[in-house]
Amino acid sequence: METPQRIGVVGAGQMGSGIAEVCARAGLDVLVAESGTDALTAGRRRIEQSLARAVRSGKLSETDHERALARIRLTTDLDDFADRDLVVEAVAETERAKVDVFAALDKVVAREDAVLASNTSSIPIVKLGRATSRPEHVIGIHFFNPVPVLALVELVPSLLTGEQTRSRAEHFATSVLGKQVVRSSDRAGFVVNALLVPYLLSAIRMLESGFASAADIDRGMVLGCAHPMGPLALADLIGLDTTQAIAESMYAEFKEPLYSPPPLLLRMVEAGHLGKKTGRGFYDYG
Ligand code: CAA
Repeated sequence: METPQRIGVVGAGQMGSGIAEVCARAGLDVLVAESGTDALTAGRRRIEQSLARAVRSGKLSETDHERALARIRLTTDLDDFADRDLVVEAVAETERAKVDVFAALDKVVAREDAVLASNTSSIPIVKLGRATSRPEHVIGIHFFNPVPVLALVELVPSLLTGEQTRSRAEHFATSVLGKQVVRSSDRAGFVVNALLVPYLLSAIRMLESGFASAADIDRGMVLGCAHPMGPLALADLIGLDTTQAIAESMYAEFKEPLYSPPPLLLRMVEAGHLGKKTGRGFYDYG
């Protein structure tokens, strides 16, 4: 199976920067696109900090750190993606933004059988495929945060994804990046978020109703169920805007009341309290 050498990552937020990092650490040439120079600078800083952390914890040598950094270039011009073999889109979790990226990639990426992947958590892959003239090459490759730490990737072919794209995406995730895969049908939430998000929303409802404090809800799940972090801290890590967006996609698909985002989540997002990335969510990160 051919290993893709030239990788494109659209979006340098917490997911995009993590995906760029694992690709560079796997020896691939990585080009990362962002919409403006401030976002690019922030993305580069995130990658540098994460690589420095890996060096501190002894998982990466200084030499490999420098080599990985040298493999990553950043751009604000999607036209630079013409020569990419495989692209992972990791922009904000809105259908409009993602559809626009796929329509643009379709025009720019020259290689006809390049894999065009989305890191979406919940938006049906078929809608992204239909934004291109090559839906057989569009697939979901969904990573988990923090990307360098978590072993899982969900592979999500749409009804229009070809067999060759499925096997190339699986080869990329497993043999090239060293991740483990689960396969999911193209349903909002896929496997993991379909289970995780109702749990996070239930914790927010529990807090909202005064049932228990945030600290006690989280301690309950950490100490009582051995989760690495409680649901409110995890929602803060994922981002409350992203949590809301995933819940809305799942609610739109299934009309299941448990998937509907509770008012407290909506108000916090409206207030700009998006979790760890803005310094404030259910906890303060000042
Ligand atoms: N980037 C890179 N490495 C990181 C990191 C980051 N952002 N955060 C932590 N790490 C590394 C640390 O360097 C450390 O490595 P070593 O063991 O080699 O030293 C290791 O992870 C553990 O970190 P810490 O000791 O600092 O902290 P911890 O033990 O409390 O772990 C955690 C932090 C890894 C985030 C852990 O709490 C965890 O796994 N939490 C659950 C995260 C989770 O469930 N993520 C899935 C979210 S859902 C999603 O992403 C998909 C979606 O669509 C919403």
